[in-house]
Amino acid sequence: MIAARDFVRALAEDNACFWRDRDVRLDPAADPARRLEQIRYRMRQGVYNELRSVELIAAWIPHVPEREIRDLLPGQLDDEHRHYRLLRERLITLGEDPDAYRPLPEWEALFDWLVACRTRPTLEKLAMFQFAGETQSCEGFETLIALATDVDPETAALYRDGILPDEYRHAAIGRRALTLLADTPSSQDVARAACHEMNERVFGAYRAHRARADRSA
Ligand SMILES: [Fe+2]
Ligand SMILES: [Fe+2]
Repeated sequence: MIAARDFVRALAEDNACFWRDRDVRLDPAADPARRLEQIRYRMRQGVYNELRSVELIAAWIPHVPEREIRDLLPGQLDDEHRHYRLLRERLITLGEDPDAYRPLPEWEALFDWLVACRTRPTLEKLAMFQFAGETQSCEGFETLIALATDVDPETAALYRDGILPDEYRHAAIGRRALTLLADTPSSQDVARAACHEMNERVFGAYRAHRARADRSA
């Protein structure tokens, strides 16, 4: 059997391979004006996603009996609520009305599904959201920051200093949960399958997001 720590490292590498060139929400080759529009689109959808993250963690907490993991979730909930407020305020400063934006149905469906997963075992839930989802969020924010630095440095700084450090902590909660709970071959199979399921769903949302952003341009 593979030790939990080695399993987590190998699964993180598998996930990184899956995501190579698949975050299609931003186009590094786009001209600056188009790039800025893609970043704004990400921010509008981000307000929705951060608030849904608050909702989903609140829904999950009563269904995480492992105290060591459950104790970490209220802090994450608090962070996601702060991210929601930061992004909302930034959009308002930029002259936008965040409440006028209609979230993409694909993102809505993804969060509805995650909330409905609350009664699944802790290992599966945290493999999906904190381990797979939040690790990919960190990658996505790194890309966003790199592509926003020249066209909107204030927004880049907000993501870099106000959001990204928290998201790295959330991804670490996922690694901790898997290291604690994925300690048998069958539990490792469960965690791997949950990651794949999440990755496929998130990739579907990314593709829909880009298609919608292109149509609104
Ligand atoms: Fe967040
Ligand atoms: Fe997060």
